[in-house]
Amino acid sequence: METPTTTKLYALCSLLLAFLFPISNSVQLDGGKLCLPEKQTSLFIFGDSIFDAGNNNYINVTNGFQANFEPYGETFFKYPTGRFSDGRLISDFIAEYAKLPLITPYLHPGYHSYIDGANFASAGAGALVETLQGSVIDLTTQLSVFKNLTSLFRKKLGDAETKTFLGRAVYLIDIGSNDYSIPFTTNSSMLQSISQQEFVDMVIGNLTIVIKEIYKEGGRKFGFLSLPPLGCVPFTRALKPGNTGACFEEITALAKLHNAAFLKVLQTLERQLNGFRYSIADVYTAFSERINNPSKYGFKEGKTACCGSGPYRGILSCGGKRSVKEYELCENASEYVFFDSAHLSERANQQVAKLMWSGTSNITTSYNLKALFEL
Ligand SMILES: *[C@@H]1O[C@H](CO)[C@@H](O)[C@H](O)[C@H]1NC(C)=O
Ligand SMILES: *[C@@H]1O[C@H](CO)[C@@H](O)[C@H](O)[C@H]1NC(C)=O
Ligand SMILES: *[C@@H]1O[C@H](CO)[C@@H](O)[C@H](O)[C@H]1NC(C)=O
Ligand SMILES: *[C@@H]1O[C@H](CO)[C@@H](O)[C@H](O)[C@H]1NC(C)=O
Ligand SMILES: *[C@@H]1O[C@H](CO)[C@@H](O)[C@H](O)[C@H]1NC(C)=O
Ligand SMILES: *[C@@H]1O[C@H](CO)[C@@H](O)[C@H](O)[C@H]1NC(C)=O
Repeated sequence: METPTTTKLYALCSLLLAFLFPISNSVQLDGGKLCLPEKQTSLFIFGDSIFDAGNNNYINVTNGFQANFEPYGETFFKYPTGRFSDGRLISDFIAEYAKLPLITPYLHPGYHSYIDGANFASAGAGALVETLQGSVIDLTTQLSVFKNLTSLFRKKLGDAETKTFLGRAVYLIDIGSNDYSIPFTTNSSMLQSISQQEFVDMVIGNLTIVIKEIYKEGGRKFGFLSLPPLGCVPFTRALKPGNTGACFEEITALAKLHNAAFLKVLQTLERQLNGFRYSIADVYTAFSERINNPSKYGFKEGKTACCGSGPYRGILSCGGKRSVKEYELCENASEYVFFDSAHLSERANQQVAKLMWSGTSNITTSYNLKALFEL
């Protein structure tokens, strides 16, 4: 008796999975037995611009939340991909450390093979539908796309196979920054009518629903980042009335409230949901350290962005394709913590990804991502 080699099996599976989309009644998988390679740990990515590898290239955005033009991508890809950085994102490095290829945005035309996972993240997205409603793919919609995918998997591969596949996968989620900072750009009434804590509870309530729904679909291993000091990025410094360059403490306060409350929710979910495992990295501290002591981490500049305009290059004009057409660009993005007004340089992304992957227990709880992938 000959058994197919893993490589052959993998090739066969990729082929079969390639037929999953678009839904075709003519595809018969003969029960789909043995299709997935053993030990396949896929990566499903949800969230905002921290993780968006190009989904927003394919939607109608009216707010400029796209990065598919130069100089985005200049350092690593040498062309713009839609990523809000000069190169790779945190999620790209995580995929690399997990020995997976870069995870393709699900809206990428012609991409229908989901064996390594999928990236649903959309720049500008929030946990609340109201956050930039109509011009981003909000978290709840990202969940719906994922659910459509899992029902298709079940149909084609059977319940047992799908359960194993989804249970082994890691689900990376980054959300909240836009919910907390966008209201300050528009004088939204949302934050004026309720308390800060009530607002945070609403964001976390919606995020928790999404986590529970992914769990219901079969997801067990979840990876998160805490929110950074949101008022200390170039964009929010420039936004602060008075132009003093100080951090916008009201926004940072929301991030702090969020981080404390979300950690409690994760601990509760771990008790409530059988098999639920999580990793959350203290990115708040990692950001603060790099912003305040850039040279300690190999950077020359921690407060001003490499690309943008105005004070701290905090006006989101990088590339000149949004409402403001003029922008400045530094010579060497690797010397900067921030590439544009609100997003890290590739070098900073890599440092954060390393912390998430192999951080010690004072940085990542309860697991680091490496341990989560190996579970
Ligand atoms: C985007 O907008 C254009 C023009 O309004 C429209 O023709 C097109 O169908 C829209 N595309 C999507 C994906 O909504
Ligand atoms: C999910 O699939 C249903 C049925 O095919 C479709 O109507 C819906 O638009 C899909 N949802 C998303 C978010 O793609
Ligand atoms: C918000 O409202 C205040 C007072 O009404 C006004 O001075 C300020 O310019 C507004 N800010 C924005 C971003 O619209
Ligand atoms: C989710 O957000 C909506 C606003 O978009 C809010 O009305 C609702 O209460 C939130 N849900 C939870 C469970 O917090
Ligand atoms: C850019 O800066 C990084 C970090 O300081 C350095 O390693 C690299 O050599 C610089 N690249 C160029 C082209 O100067
Ligand atoms: C975490 O602990 C390591 C040593 O175990 C130490 O080097 C590092 O500075 C600590 N980091 C933080 C953020 O406390």
